[in-house]
Amino acid sequence: MNDYPKTSRLMQRGAEFLGTEYAIMCGAMSWVSERNLVSAISNAGGFGVIACGAMTPELLDTEIAETRKRTDKPFGVNLITMHPDLFELIAVCERHAVGHIVLAGGIPPKGSVEAIKGGRNPAKVVVFAPTLALAKKLLRSGGDALVIEGMEAGGHIGPVSTSVLAQEMLPELAEDHVVFVAGGIGRGQAIAGYLEMGAAGVQLGTRFACATESIAHENFKKAFFRANARDAVASVQVDPRLPVIPVRALKNKGTEAFTDKQREVAGTLDREEIAMAEAQLQIEHYWAGALRRAVIDGDVENGSLMAGQSVGMLKEEEPVAAIIAKLMEQSEGALGRR
Ligand SMILES: Cc1cc2nc3c(=O)[nH]c(=O)nc-3n(C[C@H](O)[C@H](O)[C@H](O)COP(=O)(O)O)c2cc1C
Repeated sequence: MNDYPKTSRLMQRGAEFLGTEYAIMCGAMSWVSERNLVSAISNAGGFGVIACGAMTPELLDTEIAETRKRTDKPFGVNLITMHPDLFELIAVCERHAVGHIVLAGGIPPKGSVEAIKGGRNPAKVVVFAPTLALAKKLLRSGGDALVIEGMEAGGHIGPVSTSVLAQEMLPELAEDHVVFVAGGIGRGQAIAGYLEMGAAGVQLGTRFACATESIAHENFKKAFFRANARDAVASVQVDPRLPVIPVRALKNKGTEAFTDKQREVAGTLDREEIAMAEAQLQIEHYWAGALRRAVIDGDVENGSLMAGQSVGMLKEEEPVAAIIAKLMEQSEGALGRR
């Protein structure tokens, strides 16, 4: 038994599912969740997840191998469902006997869940669902666990808050399924609350993005430590013809320029200078590379500083193990006072 018996008891199903000491996942963050952060999370008793993002199968192959060199604990891989090489990426994970694949970015394409579970090294499938109906469908068709993520989170978001999703979904699903709650979690007191509501564990991103082991640029980390909750805003769609999946990020010149870009493209559409498909493509590509510019190059003015609202609770760089210990202590303290 560890120092957190009450929390660990409530986390037991989640920890067994992940094969970890604590049912705390560090959500995949493109450019941030690579070998160093992922192995540090897993070595500290949590569950790290490699962000595959737009990686090629070769790059993913290397990243998994490098992560394995740094930890012998379980970790997962996050694959985006619309990646053109999704099935090749699944095959790479299978060759490395990755135990858990997190499928993000929409409904998994036909055959993908079967491919993950059917090979020589079947993996567990973790899915996201923005509604109860979809959650039930995905869990019926092969999902082994579910992450429900509210709009407080950093990165791509849906329209509903974590607290409402948790109330809607946990009573219906938590008894029979392993459910992790994500979005807006900055302290262990909140973890205790979601565990008491039936969650098997939690997923955090923003809280870990600036850990000592994170390779994010110093400028990126400083921007996080300066920011308040209200600075992490969802991107706005300017024109109904040009769909934008909202992304929560710290406001900067880049977020303003994105609004201007949408207006500019809408103008070219009005004047019939470009076709609709081309216009939508221009919008989609605008942010390509923007996250890399901020995380790796440290361009915090023009890059994308994806961050959740819990960013206001981050004040300094801390090692992953210290963050996890703090979260567990806070949860245990809260449960002890009940
Ligand atoms: C910088 C950043 C990048 C992210 N990139 C991804 C990603 O590539 N794939 C994904 O599924 N989620 C991504 N997310 C979401 C996280 O995995 C996680 O679910 C989210 O951060 C949890 O909410 P929180 O930020 O409030 O803790 C990202 C989040 C951040 C902050």
